[in-house]
Amino acid sequence: MGSFYDKLAKAPQAFTFEDLILLPGLAEIEPWQVRLETKFSVNLELKIPFAAAPMDTVSEWQVGVALALKGGIAVIHRNMPREEQLEHVRRVKEHPPLKITNVYLEANVSCQAAREYMRELGLRTVPVVDRGGKFVGYAVYGLLENCKMVAEAVKPGKAYSVEEALKARKAVLNGEVDVAAILDSKGLLIGTLTVADALEDINPALDKSGRLVVGAAISPFDVERIKMLDGVADVLVVDVAHAHNRNVIESLKKVSKELTSDLVVGNIGSGEAAKDILASIENVAGFRVGIASGSICKTGEVVGVAAPTLYAVALVRDALEELGATNIPIIADGGIKGAGDAVKALAAGAWAVMCGRLFAGTDEAPAPLVRIGDKVYKPYRGMASRGALEKRWAMDRYSRRAKKVEEGVEGLVEYRGSIYRVIDELVEALKAALGYVGAKSIPELWRKARFAKLSPRGVQEIRPHSIHI
Ligand code: IMP
Repeated sequence: MGSFYDKLAKAPQAFTFEDLILLPGLAEIEPWQVRLETKFSVNLELKIPFAAAPMDTVSEWQVGVALALKGGIAVIHRNMPREEQLEHVRRVKEHPPLKITNVYLEANVSCQAAREYMRELGLRTVPVVDRGGKFVGYAVYGLLENCKMVAEAVKPGKAYSVEEALKARKAVLNGEVDVAAILDSKGLLIGTLTVADALEDINPALDKSGRLVVGAAISPFDVERIKMLDGVADVLVVDVAHAHNRNVIESLKKVSKELTSDLVVGNIGSGEAAKDILASIENVAGFRVGIASGSICKTGEVVGVAAPTLYAVALVRDALEELGATNIPIIADGGIKGAGDAVKALAAGAWAVMCGRLFAGTDEAPAPLVRIGDKVYKPYRGMASRGALEKRWAMDRYSRRAKKVEEGVEGLVEYRGSIYRVIDELVEALKAALGYVGAKSIPELWRKARFAKLSPRGVQEIRPHSIHI
């Protein structure tokens, strides 16, 4: 037997989420007392360890706002012209730290149509805008009976600036007003705060100026895009499948020196990758870790190379511990099917998890609903799928067709409704998970977590089984 045989015989186990479970431990606290504060990058704090992946069926400004309001972060995808990506980033940064709804009437709408609209929404009062989107007052249901156009019945009323958003929330909650119009500095309506919005349980992740946090995906070779987004997005997230690549590292080495935003580098799948990158690039503020675990990924199948997320996270964490670089957050990216995988990724050393599929089926994700029979879906695709690549090549002259293989698939995911509910469920389940382990915070989870290996049969046993559902 020689060294080639040894490569097979002595191969380490590349653990995946399905291979291991966490063991329960003594809980000194109840799940509601668990704290999930963490960091996405060295200078970016989150209230919950969830990030939305930079994919064109997931992360545009609406998902960005929702994630940040709930305490996480979205990374705006780059499969669009750089000006458009910047606009999405700006919309998150300029959004008030409150949930608001896109509800309004135009002044030139008929009173009858306005009444129907308000009845459908169940709202007595709705802001009115002129053709240019400028706030002109409120329409009140009872006053729309004897008029032709809404313009005739507009009632003046207080509108609130973004800075006054919390005041607006108080006014709505105290019943002083039915709804509150929130305006930008030019008097344009940004959105409407309804009672349901005011009651939404939010705990926003904010920058030092009190604005929502947001990330932007970048290519290491698109210097113009990097310059445009730097200082606007809180964090720039390198968006390549294999960042442990000499060209990627050399390019990042040059561009990273002048950055003011945090820089998260990825994806990587080994401790050596982390070490090589840190040896060359000074201001790495985080690593995006995991290769080929994504639900839409066919890299492993097509090229036979992968570093499953759970395994890769542990390797990178060990390398960072060895280097004493324990302040650099690791974001576990790919294959997170729910809070059960999230807690395993965190226990293996991650600070946060990045998810695509989990958020793709929500109202806030950009793709339209697809109805098949009596079921409703939303499209979800890999960024290296044929459809996504064709769009990128068509519009981004800086993207390079480095590889000629498709490494992603396009498909549908079940429609899941509001992303706010999806995040709430994830957070509740994650808190319960930490409760079982007996950890009251993510750092305590790192210390206390103990894994055990499951046999393939065991995987069946710990799911609902032997019953018709
Ligand atoms: P998911 O949450 O399991 O759906 O995985 C999302 C992650 O898959 C993203 O954050 C990327 O790291 C990765 N990814 C996105 N598009 C592709 C692709 O086309 N091929 C391989 N991996 C992809």
